[in-house]
Amino acid sequence: MDGAEIETIEGLGTQDDLHPIQAAFVDNAALQCGFCIPGMIMQSRSLLQDNPDPTEAEIRKGLSGNLCRCTGYEKIIGAVQDAAERMSSDTIATDGGDSTHEIVACSNQKCSRGENDE
Ligand code: FES
Repeated sequence: MDGAEIETIEGLGTQDDLHPIQAAFVDNAALQCGFCIPGMIMQSRSLLQDNPDPTEAEIRKGLSGNLCRCTGYEKIIGAVQDAAERMSSDTIATDGGDSTHEIVACSNQKCSRGENDE
């Protein structure tokens, strides 16, 4: 364990710049009391780092060590699927919330997302 790096939910994103997984949990209402959410999100992060496009069964297996007494898991599974989709986007960094939301090459031309920077 010497030299090991420990990452907690506090290091993932901020209130003003949520990590895509945190944002997906919020947007999918994937929590009730919130007690399980830090563990669910950190386990989801590990799962998505190892497998960026997991099936529902892989998500269920990946989160099987985390218990939620409130939600029934359906919204949590949906949030992880949503997070995987968000993180697969070329506009969102997969390494955390700090370097996200960068849109490149949008000046006076259609950018890769089909938006104009007029
Ligand atoms: S939201 Fe309450 S334990 Fe999961």
